[in-house]
Amino acid sequence: MADLRVNVAGVEFKNPVIPASGAFGYGREYEKFYPLSKLGGIAIKGTTLEPRQGNPGPRVAETPSGMLNSVGLQNGGLKKFLEYELPNLLTKDTRIVANIAGATAEECGELAKALDDTAVDMIELNISCPNVKQGGAAFGTRCESAAAVTASVRKATSKPLMVKLSPNVTSIVDIAKAVESEGADAVSLINTLLGMRIDIKSRRPVLKNNVGGLSGPAVFPIAVRMVWQVTNAVNIPVVGMGGIATWEDAVEMMMAGASAIQIGAALFSNPYAPVEIVEGLNKYCDDNGIKSISEIVGTVQPW
Ligand code: SIN
Repeated sequence: MADLRVNVAGVEFKNPVIPASGAFGYGREYEKFYPLSKLGGIAIKGTTLEPRQGNPGPRVAETPSGMLNSVGLQNGGLKKFLEYELPNLLTKDTRIVANIAGATAEECGELAKALDDTAVDMIELNISCPNVKQGGAAFGTRCESAAAVTASVRKATSKPLMVKLSPNVTSIVDIAKAVESEGADAVSLINTLLGMRIDIKSRRPVLKNNVGGLSGPAVFPIAVRMVWQVTNAVNIPVVGMGGIATWEDAVEMMMAGASAIQIGAALFSNPYAPVEIVEGLNKYCDDNGIKSISEIVGTVQPW
């Protein structure tokens, strides 16, 4: 058995595989398939101060080798998370990454403060949701606003802080550096790429929101490229995501520089993907004489 433990910003995960925010809810449905303790951690659905219904449907569409979503941060709000979801998650013997999303920098600070004296292991600040009018990608597509919201959250919490970045930018490296300079302990990338589909009979967009975020295998090479570029530009750990569906994808993403990985769209076609990836990583290490999975992080040798 290889050592699959990884350390991200001082938090030790038993393995590097974390279901991504929004793709796994709070694990209740997936627990029917396997114990959540098999996972390195769980990134919870983006939590806002108040409950949100999200955007009107249709808000999910299939694409070649991927999917579009325009969910709009549907969630039960902070109070429900603290009183109902968190106590249950804390019994699961896995790390809890609390994804937060506020409409303003102050709101993000308020969310972080409320989580500061809970047992969540890490805060993931969402500055990259493309499906909301306030907050989300509106923060994450300019260095100044990305830095300002990170500073507001940093002041409010001493928890390890990871900032989730948008690929819908001119330079993701500049955004990563901006959040690092304001105290982010890690960055996670990529969130979804803004996309659109049109029903050619009705001449209407397939999504009621007109546009939505593209995820799935189609975006994987873009995610690998961005993780590699960011890893080479910052001094904080990078958590990689975007189209990872197999253990081979996970190895590739880690070789690009990811200290851990998140699994999103793959969960909808294969709920077992995270545990299959853990098993695959273990076998890959054993077959290749790798004692610790951390040994492969950032080992790509560019031409
Ligand atoms: C959503 O709820 O719209 C997706 C979350 C995200 O893209 O950050």
